[in-house]
Amino acid sequence: MARRPLVVGNWKMNGTVREAAELARAVAAGLAGEGAEAAVCPPFPCLAEVGRVVDGTGVALGAQDVSRHRPGSHTGEVSAEMLHDLGCRWVIVGHSERRTGLGETDETVRAKLDRARECGLAPIACVGETLEQREAGEADRVVRRQVDALLDGAGSEAVAGCVVAYEPIWAIGTGRNAAPEDAQAMHRGIRARIAERSSAAADSVRILYGGSVNDNNAAGLFAMPDIDGGLIGGASLDSGRFAAICRAAP
Ligand code: 13P
Repeated sequence: MARRPLVVGNWKMNGTVREAAELARAVAAGLAGEGAEAAVCPPFPCLAEVGRVVDGTGVALGAQDVSRHRPGSHTGEVSAEMLHDLGCRWVIVGHSERRTGLGETDETVRAKLDRARECGLAPIACVGETLEQREAGEADRVVRRQVDALLDGAGSEAVAGCVVAYEPIWAIGTGRNAAPEDAQAMHRGIRARIAERSSAAADSVRILYGGSVNDNNAAGLFAMPDIDGGLIGGASLDSGRFAAICRAAP
């Protein structure tokens, strides 16, 4: 089955509402329907304005996180219902900056994924190992555990509607991307793990690579058979570079 490449910009905690709107306008103009399916994930305070800007363009709206809780007394949290109401199609769950920096567990990530799906949002579930884990030869085991946690929660058929993002932590924001062959080996392993539960889900699920993707290295990564696009941090804050990355998808 052909999987349409997807390129997602994770803007992280950057910019003002006005800057986000300007960036969104430039991204939408720069893409004009070409290349991969595209989405941008601005910070929460910018979602409404960026949603207005990208409405009706080929660029979809996503959020960077979602509460694991249903609406109610959870100060500071943002529910899946609220994100859906703002026009989000996508939501990132389990980014390593939340797993390692904010103590999110596999169980939390799974609960967020379930909440997103219940509200009609498509989760982008992040997995990936630290440098220490890779150097200790534990990368495959760590990522397998993270993938299993997603499968145990959502179920293998449900995973078909999700996107998995492999983001080796040592490659995030370091300028040191995984070699395409190494990323491909991990992506193939993730797909094989999903196939043990459902070959249909494994065929259709899109697996993105993230970690220092830029306009120079994207084509080499995206040419790999199990790399279905990218989750882009730093380079997504430049509309020209982001458009070039989207055009690098086969
Ligand atoms: P960089 O592209 O800045 O390495 O960030 C990757 C990332 O964390 C995307 O979610």
